[in-house]
Amino acid sequence: MTLKPFSWETSHLVSMDQFQREDIELIFRRTQELETNLFPVDKEKFSQMVLASLFFEPSTRTRLSFEVAMLRLGGQVLKLPDIESLSLSKGESLEDTIRVLGAYANIIILRHPSEEALQLACRYSSVPIINAGDGCDEHPTQALLDLYTIQKEKGSIDGLKIAIVGDLKHARVVHSLLKGLTKFKVDLKLVSPPELKVPEPFLRKLEEQNLNYVETPDLESVIGEIDILYVVMLQHHRISDPHQLEQLKRKYYVIDRKLVQKGQSNLMILHPMVRREELSPEVDELPQAAYFRQVRNGVSVRMALLSLMLG
Ligand code: CP
Repeated sequence: MTLKPFSWETSHLVSMDQFQREDIELIFRRTQELETNLFPVDKEKFSQMVLASLFFEPSTRTRLSFEVAMLRLGGQVLKLPDIESLSLSKGESLEDTIRVLGAYANIIILRHPSEEALQLACRYSSVPIINAGDGCDEHPTQALLDLYTIQKEKGSIDGLKIAIVGDLKHARVVHSLLKGLTKFKVDLKLVSPPELKVPEPFLRKLEEQNLNYVETPDLESVIGEIDILYVVMLQHHRISDPHQLEQLKRKYYVIDRKLVQKGQSNLMILHPMVRREELSPEVDELPQAAYFRQVRNGVSVRMALLSLMLG
């Protein structure tokens, strides 16, 4: 799909490609204003606004934080039944479902395992759609909250050394984060087993922006020099070959207390979650662990987005 520059009031939010640095900084400012009650929300206007979440894959954080964000702005959330209870299960098409939702809601949050389905939905929707994850491709609002968390905790994104670790092939949050980071001046370490490297089109984006990056399978070799350690789980559900999955599980990374102690004292650990074996719960109590604060920022960043897109 050819993406036009982002227009706050008319665009679907599909990819981090749509944003310029100024757009991201606007979202940061609005988020900060909402967090400190400096932004006057027009609750009367929002009381007429309805958000619908259409999720074809499981979610805890994205769906619930969008719904909480809408409620905190004074808006309403459509109580959508499970996908199985919708008329989709009687054979209704996605196009028609999206058209119908557009008649009831002012904005649709869509998660779907297929990139093509997202594109189709965007073609038929009369109201803005926000991509909440399209297969292995992108998850732009996760990237926005990741970037906001870094900015908030470190004061600036420029100048940081960031390691992104794990299944960089299938994790859509990584793909959106990489696109987001091209708007800043950072030094990237892409740490993954050789089978799970960042796909070529996303690497090309880094190269187009002259972003400094290295690829390595060896986390120990970079842990001492980084400011941010961003970890993702092995995307089990995207790997169909059980033999390959077992092999990858055996050599996957484990972030534990011992490893964190090899890093700088001001290292910050982020994880978009779901976390599994790759991030030991013993790290949760360390000052470096920022991932539950990252979760919390998801609500205010999504409030900022909704306020800008519905404002
Ligand atoms: N980070 C994230 O997308 O979490 P959920 O799958 O729970 O929405």
